[in-house]
Amino acid sequence: MHTETHTGLESPKGVWWQPAHATEKLWVTIAFAWCMVLFAMMPLWHWKGGQNPSGVRARTDPQSYYKRVNEMVAQYRVGDDKGIPIVAPPPGSDVYLAAMTFQWTPILKLQKGAEYTLHLSSLDVVHGFSLYPINVNFMVLPGYDYGLRVTPNESGDFRIICNEFCGIGHHTMVGRVIVEDPPTSAAAPSAAHPSLTAALGGGR
Ligand code: CUA
Repeated sequence: MHTETHTGLESPKGVWWQPAHATEKLWVTIAFAWCMVLFAMMPLWHWKGGQNPSGVRARTDPQSYYKRVNEMVAQYRVGDDKGIPIVAPPPGSDVYLAAMTFQWTPILKLQKGAEYTLHLSSLDVVHGFSLYPINVNFMVLPGYDYGLRVTPNESGDFRIICNEFCGIGHHTMVGRVIVEDPPTSAAAPSAAHPSLTAALGGGR
């Protein structure tokens, strides 16, 4: 069997230097146009679709992130639910939520109509933040601090479901977010967003 080796000193065999056939040009044009459509979809989903929200992104490590979570817990703890602290950070503050096998900590008590920066990070493997029953989904990665600007526009007791398979206890990984109405009805600037998803998108 004869094996050819290319030295780079001779021209390779083929016809690639000849002008492309009309159909080839057509297909390259179609493929390029479609790439541009998909490229345009990214900002479009951000502004029109309430997806790919911008926010604060930073590198972190599990130890320092967990330290930050505990600092917030120590500062704003208002109670406990089965050993998991309940925190009520003030409107406008940075809120830290940690995902770990197989729980979310702490439980967040937020105020309707107030803006928060919700930080998400994992202390071990990849988890998924899914706010039930609202259609809000984010990947929670270890090593990354993902800060979302959120304005809860609906009061209630919500559940955070993990939507990335993370191990044997994946299905038990349920967290809690409590959204309360503001203390006085007079000073309640309505967020006027049609949904929390839109508030998360926000076009920021
Ligand atoms: Cu965490 Cu699945």
